[in-house]
Amino acid sequence: MTVHGIESEPVGTFPPSGIDVIVVGTGLAGLTAAIECIRKGHNVRVLERNASINTLGDMYFMGLPATRFFKHWPEMKDEYDSIGLHNAWIETFKHSGELIVKPLYVAERLKAAGLDPKTPPGTFQLRPLIYRMFVKQVERLGVKIEFNSRVVDYYEDKEKGKGGCITQDGKKYEADIVIAADGVGSKSQRLVGGQVRARSSGRAMWRAAFPVENLDKDPEVKKHYTMIGPDNSEPIVRTYLGPGTYAMTLTRPETMIWIINHNATGSSAENWSNTIEPQEVLDEMDKGVGPKPWSEMMKRLIACTPEKTIVNFELLWRDPQPSWKSPDCRVVQIGDAAHSFLPASGNGATQAIEDAVSIASCIHLCGGKENIPEAVDAHIRFRFIRNACAQKVGFTNAELLQDTDWDKVKIDPRRAQPRHPKWVWEHDPEPYTYENYAKNVEAMKKGISFDESDVPPNYPPGYKFKPWTIDEIMETMKAGKPVELGPGNWD
Ligand SMILES: Cc1cc2nc3c(=O)[nH]c(=O)nc-3n(C[C@H](O)[C@H](O)[C@H](O)COP(=O)(O)OP(=O)(O)OC[C@H]3O[C@@H](n4cnc5c(N)ncnc54)[C@H](O)[C@@H]3O)c2cc1C
Ligand SMILES: *[C@@H]1O[C@H](CO)[C@@H](O)[C@H](O)[C@H]1NC(C)=O
Ligand SMILES: *[C@@H]1O[C@H](CO)[C@@H](O)[C@H](O)[C@H]1NC(C)=O
Repeated sequence: MTVHGIESEPVGTFPPSGIDVIVVGTGLAGLTAAIECIRKGHNVRVLERNASINTLGDMYFMGLPATRFFKHWPEMKDEYDSIGLHNAWIETFKHSGELIVKPLYVAERLKAAGLDPKTPPGTFQLRPLIYRMFVKQVERLGVKIEFNSRVVDYYEDKEKGKGGCITQDGKKYEADIVIAADGVGSKSQRLVGGQVRARSSGRAMWRAAFPVENLDKDPEVKKHYTMIGPDNSEPIVRTYLGPGTYAMTLTRPETMIWIINHNATGSSAENWSNTIEPQEVLDEMDKGVGPKPWSEMMKRLIACTPEKTIVNFELLWRDPQPSWKSPDCRVVQIGDAAHSFLPASGNGATQAIEDAVSIASCIHLCGGKENIPEAVDAHIRFRFIRNACAQKVGFTNAELLQDTDWDKVKIDPRRAQPRHPKWVWEHDPEPYTYENYAKNVEAMKKGISFDESDVPPNYPPGYKFKPWTIDEIMETMKAGKPVELGPGNWD
């Protein structure tokens, strides 16, 4: 018998599974779940509350594990290669504008940090471009996204072996499995068991992405934030580190992006449509950065930003959710719905896509709709510890970046480089799931926990899971101590 899934196999090679899947939400988690479920032969419907696709947002980090499934989708791979950053540079400044690390190819910086430049752990990508690319793939597969379908509740029926959801206009949708990929604050929380409280981290980010032509308003800014390399044709990331703040700019051929991390102000919200105007940033930014104000060029860059563009995004923290599934396993949460990441953690998009690849594979491997509960349980075992560890790394990354007191700290350019551990970027969720599904299920049936089973770890080798809370982490951070990661090799 062929073991489908480990080798590259296009659509049509998997026999129809006869399994009906409903996906709620068209973020990267939902879209990837739809794409991969179709490849595995499942029948897919997609519901989305918005009236159309939402290409807001600026950039996120796409880790290698999130891009490995493109090998099955040549059109996606080609598009990804064409929209990605090629030959990107990086340069680091103090917040005041003083240069600390001269421009280098990202590859060279990786080498200096002991990483292999040929396999960078991932790359920064523009959300609007990536997003459109995923939507196009779903459309190529003939799936019509049902827009204006705001799900208000989920349910399941054990006897019938169905999961379901109800939309605002009272319509009921039912399938063998419902994948809740409706993001932070998922409406499936009630069925799955309680809401995890959001805690203010006290921090927020000003973020903006806009056409580079806006820099024509200030020729010196245009010159300063130019691209670099041969004929100034290569994109460059500029990072800024300062007391209680850090920032990043990215200049691409058509787009200028900047992001500044700051103390939350009254106007910040966890909402990608929550915009403020440049003057507010200019009025606030020098508060708390010590005697030296922000670089003049950065301020002038902000002043060039068009109206209704700067998002003031509040960073909320949540405990790991103890459960991601309904009692009878017919509704399962993936992506941010299951585990939220800070946008600065460099892992939210990656883990969301990994989840989607994993659940599509487990549904295939379980062998039929009657075994979906097994698929859901196996999937959650594969994903839970890995995500809890990735969330912790996100906190240490935030901590690493946030506090640079130039009078006390020795200048260490590695601070400008978030941690991208090997156990995160080496992972390939699809073959991992296929190779280990049987072992995982066997251990599960014997009541052996995942980290005591003989399934090789996809989390820090040597780690044993211990529940943690955001309170503990906040306490440690407030005390100025490093976040305690736990045993195992976290590098
Ligand atoms: C508009 C937008 C812009 C973003 N920009 C950035 C960015 O610039 N940088 C960054 O790091 N991260 C950004 N993110 C977050 C990032 O996309 C996610 O953290 C990550 O990719 C995980 O994706 P997800 O699919 O789990 O969740 P999300 O990307 O949040 O997707 C959830 C989807 O579900 C839909 N939905 C929500 N509730 C319902 C409901 N009740 N019924 C039906 N559908 C529902 C939402 O409209 C959305 O399409 C953005 C998210 C959004 C929604
Ligand atoms: C997000 O902000 C927009 C614009 O201010 C607003 O219309 C929308 O209702 C907000 N969404 C939430 C969930 O608060
Ligand atoms: C930001 O918050 C921290 C912690 O609450 C505080 O110590 C610092 O002074 C604040 N900075 C500003 C600019 O308010």
